[in-house]
Amino acid sequence: MSEIRELYEANNQGHVFEFYDALTDAEKTSLEKQASAIDLDEIADLTARLIQTPDCQDSGFSEAVEPAEYIPLEKNEGGDPARWVEARAKGEAALRAGRVAAFTVAGGQGTRLGYNGPKGTFGVSPILHKSLFQLFAEKILASSKIFARPIPWFIMTSQSNHDDTITFFEKSDYFGLPSDQVNFFSQGVMPAVDEEGKILLAEKTQIALSPDGHGGSLRALVRSGATRQMEADGIDIISYFQVDNPLVRCIDPAFIGFHLEGNSELSSKTVSKAYASEKVGVFCQRGEKTLVVEYSDLPEELAEATDTNGELLYRSGSIAIHLFDRDFVHRLGSGTGESAQLPFHLAHKKVPFIDSKGKINAPEAPNAYKFEMFVFDALPFANNPIIIETAREDDFSPVKNARGIDSAQTARDDQLRQFARWAAGAGIKVETNDSGLPAAAFEISPLFGDTAERFASSWDALENKTELTEGVVLA
Ligand code: UTP
Repeated sequence: MSEIRELYEANNQGHVFEFYDALTDAEKTSLEKQASAIDLDEIADLTARLIQTPDCQDSGFSEAVEPAEYIPLEKNEGGDPARWVEARAKGEAALRAGRVAAFTVAGGQGTRLGYNGPKGTFGVSPILHKSLFQLFAEKILASSKIFARPIPWFIMTSQSNHDDTITFFEKSDYFGLPSDQVNFFSQGVMPAVDEEGKILLAEKTQIALSPDGHGGSLRALVRSGATRQMEADGIDIISYFQVDNPLVRCIDPAFIGFHLEGNSELSSKTVSKAYASEKVGVFCQRGEKTLVVEYSDLPEELAEATDTNGELLYRSGSIAIHLFDRDFVHRLGSGTGESAQLPFHLAHKKVPFIDSKGKINAPEAPNAYKFEMFVFDALPFANNPIIIETAREDDFSPVKNARGIDSAQTARDDQLRQFARWAAGAGIKVETNDSGLPAAAFEISPLFGDTAERFASSWDALENKTELTEGVVLA
């Protein structure tokens, strides 16, 4: 019996090799490879702690939690325009010095959207239906030109979408970016287990594996060699964003400036929650530590509590836009030094599996547990974390669902509203409804203008100005 099989037998997971003897040599090798990548002690520990004694999961909430402080937008109460000007200049200098890389986490399964393909390949722009990846590529290209430094882009995929993601970029010629500016690596996986901690088989040759959560990005950045490569290239700031948000400013000089000014290891953007029960995590403070408390863990009376201005007390919503210090990622991602690795969270899901008779079961109720890490769990480990406020309409409109809230339709409308605001700001007459949605749908390419100011200057310089009627694209 091979060493790995013996190990699995000794750990009460021998059933993973139940069908092994009937497999081809290639299948045997593949199964052994999958099995070797799993840390059985970790699975046993997680089963005991999270599944069998669920009360010991730390939700982050405790009576001692207070709302976290953040730097308000220049235009909002408490905002200091001079401070923002200074931060912007500082960020621009860092960009000109080539200290910044863009980083997209694109390893999620996108189950809610139900789209067949990597989520980044999903078309979202209003007229040309450009994919999320194309929009990010063009924003990164625009910033690379403005700051006269190629901004490297790191994209984290999963085992199941890695090849399709790369093929998509190759077919599209990297959307104008030099191919060596774009780096792909796959995130880690974790097996699904039943309530006794037994690892499930998806097929006779295949362990039921799923990505280890966006928090897995930290160790994946280290394991893939990305942090080492960044170090060699003089990059110490990692601009993190998720694949599902077409409005995100992939590169934001003011944010970078605040991050540097505060000597922060992990900076975050916040928007005020739209309403008390909005399903976003909230930035909180517990003693010296900053953390995100998930909406499901924040007691209702606190979620609804207001301050003396009548605003929500716990309003500071997390929108998954961060700046990481490279050494911090290295420290946390390699699990060295004082910081342990990020904790795992449990998700109870429906996972199809092969039973001991070799029959496929498609459960109708959750039957299995998956283990995931969350990126915001890095916050309590960071020194000097900074949170800055941003305007939702300038940074956040995620595509999560096939329809309704946070869907392709809402993201399309939010892009159109942004284009209409930029056009109005440049003195162009645009007819809109009360919500700011233009009567005629038009599109502004990030390469024409990726901010209100850059749109206005490109528009000024345009010799043949067209009317912004239905279907017009400014490229
Ligand atoms: P979500 O939490 O929206 O998860 O991910 P998801 O898997 O994409 O979608 P659902 O829940 O199945 O519908 C937020 C971001 O984190 C990335 C996603 O790709 C997205 O950019 N992510 C999530 C990863 O990169 N890896 C993961 O394991 C999970």
